[in-house]
Amino acid sequence: MEHPPGSVVLQDAVAGYGTRKVLDRITCSYVPGQFVMVTGASGAGKTTFMRLLYGVVRLRSGEGFVDGIDLRRLWPWQVSGLRRRLGFVFQSYELLPHLTALENVRLPLELAQWSIESPEDVAHQALRRVGLADLADRRPDHLSGGQQQRVAIARAIAHQPRILLADEPTGNLDTIATWQVLDLLAELSEDGMTVLLATHDATALQHFDGEVLRL
Ligand SMILES: Nc1ncnc2c1ncn2[C@@H]1O[C@H](COP(=O)(O)OP(=O)(O)O)[C@@H](O)[C@H]1O
Ligand SMILES: [Mg+2]
Repeated sequence: MEHPPGSVVLQDAVAGYGTRKVLDRITCSYVPGQFVMVTGASGAGKTTFMRLLYGVVRLRSGEGFVDGIDLRRLWPWQVSGLRRRLGFVFQSYELLPHLTALENVRLPLELAQWSIESPEDVAHQALRRVGLADLADRRPDHLSGGQQQRVAIARAIAHQPRILLADEPTGNLDTIATWQVLDLLAELSEDGMTVLLATHDATALQHFDGEVLRL
């Protein structure tokens, strides 16, 4: 089977905590640019699924390939290499409160182990991409929840990952902000980014006619 850049492929993947299997023989295959919703009740294993792809939770058996990287052969020193190919968005935004939107996006670029030319320009570009060019100098407490999440998305995509993992990104948002974030993620996938969005939010699943993985 081919595992091109931007693809996510699991075959009978098993993962969990201690002796407990949370993901029990999950099989799925996503191509670059696909927009996938990962659903299931609270506790079903959505976050665990994201953590497996992000190299936090180990693949216990089966096969897994993320952006061409073989999860079975993921040694601890390779995890940062995997994460560099991914973007991650959390429900709670995880912005640093004392930094501006621009600084929040720029800081990880400056701290990256690989060198990125002109982090300032790259950060501005990412903020433009999410429609927040005008709010670059605002701190999180002067942004709405939806705007904060878009800053977090800018931070997640600034290094141009092929795959974006979003774990309940609309969990704290009202309906309008939820749609804005979903539209943005859909646009990113149309541009070729593979987007995996974990949610148990019925609003997010309404009108969604793409691929759904039920856990
Ligand atoms: N770090 C952990 N250690 C042990 N069990 C965990 C840990 N994280 C999650 N779990 C358990 O794994 C199951 C799946 O959790 P999770 O992946 O967070 O589900 P979801 O994101 O769908 O709500 C739950 O039963 C949860 O209690
Ligand atoms: Mg979760």
